Amino acid sequence: MKFSGSHILSISQFDRNDIERVFEVADRMVPYAHRERVTKVLDGAILGNMFFEPSTRTRVSFGCAFNLLGGEVRETTGFETSAIAKGESLYDTARVLSGYSDVIVMRHPVSGSVAEFAAASRVPVMNGGDGSNEHPSQALLDLYTIRKELQHQGRSDLDGLRIAMIGDLKYGRTVHSLCKLLCLYKNVTVVLISPNELKMPEAIVEQLRQAGHTVQESDVMEGSISKVDIAYSTRIQEERFASPAEADLYRGRYRLNQSIYTRYCEPNTVIMHPLPRDSRTEANELDNDLNDNPNLAIFRQADNGVLVRMALFALTLDVADQVDKAARDVNWYTERRF
Ligand code: CP
Repeated sequence: MKFSGSHILSISQFDRNDIERVFEVADRMVPYAHRERVTKVLDGAILGNMFFEPSTRTRVSFGCAFNLLGGEVRETTGFETSAIAKGESLYDTARVLSGYSDVIVMRHPVSGSVAEFAAASRVPVMNGGDGSNEHPSQALLDLYTIRKELQHQGRSDLDGLRIAMIGDLKYGRTVHSLCKLLCLYKNVTVVLISPNELKMPEAIVEQLRQAGHTVQESDVMEGSISKVDIAYSTRIQEERFASPAEADLYRGRYRLNQSIYTRYCEPNTVIMHPLPRDSRTEANELDNDLNDNPNLAIFRQADNGVLVRMALFALTLDVADQVDKAARDVNWYTERRF
């Protein structure tokens, strides 16, 4: 794909070469994300960061990524602080805000709304999550993390990957995008573990099968996670249910802890989660007793979000090859934290 000036709305836009390009640029962002170097390549540029649903990682890491490239961030959070609350359409909002920004990231509770917004925008728009539809930057950072974790284990290839996805696969937009992304690779085994009512949409299962992948579906976690490289847990997407009481029916159905991990998983199985993990007693999908497990990759995964989102900005705004030219070493104290 041509990155320069493009919207990033769906994983379906990418081919395997595009993914390699994103990952190659993300790798080059490490000294900046790790506070060893500073670049001003986007000095003067403005990101409109518009989040109409709660977010910690996506909102802050997109903002952080833009700041680390030298740009400025303007935030809108929640409908109540936007004129959308007064009845303004997405079309008008997009026409106006794209005059104030060089690029826009948007999260919205309605599937397809970010694409509708992008159609009226005069600048590139990135999908920070639209309803239960897609979360493309999350899928990119997830696959980037999988690749890094496997490289750490001495494996260089994503082809032949075995991954279990656990939890709310019906409403979980991260797993929807990740499945679409895995369709670009070969001979992947995808184990889909969910309550019957929260299964992966059939269209996505069909896409995996069309790609030649092995798909197994189960409503039991133990046993189904015994032969996978990656155990990818997800939260019950309470905000998509008619009521919290309906979500309560499924909360806590799948709980991965150290004792289950030791009993059922292979010794190197990498544990992932897009976060937030629901740590309330009634849910507790990834127990805190996994926090010292070296294969728990959830915080490395969140750190990688900055690298991948820097790469998306650098490519979309066409400065990927200028980042190092506008750089210097940092001159403040930086603790080693990466
Ligand atoms: N993974 C993710 O989308 O997290 P946030 O909801 O905190 O952005």
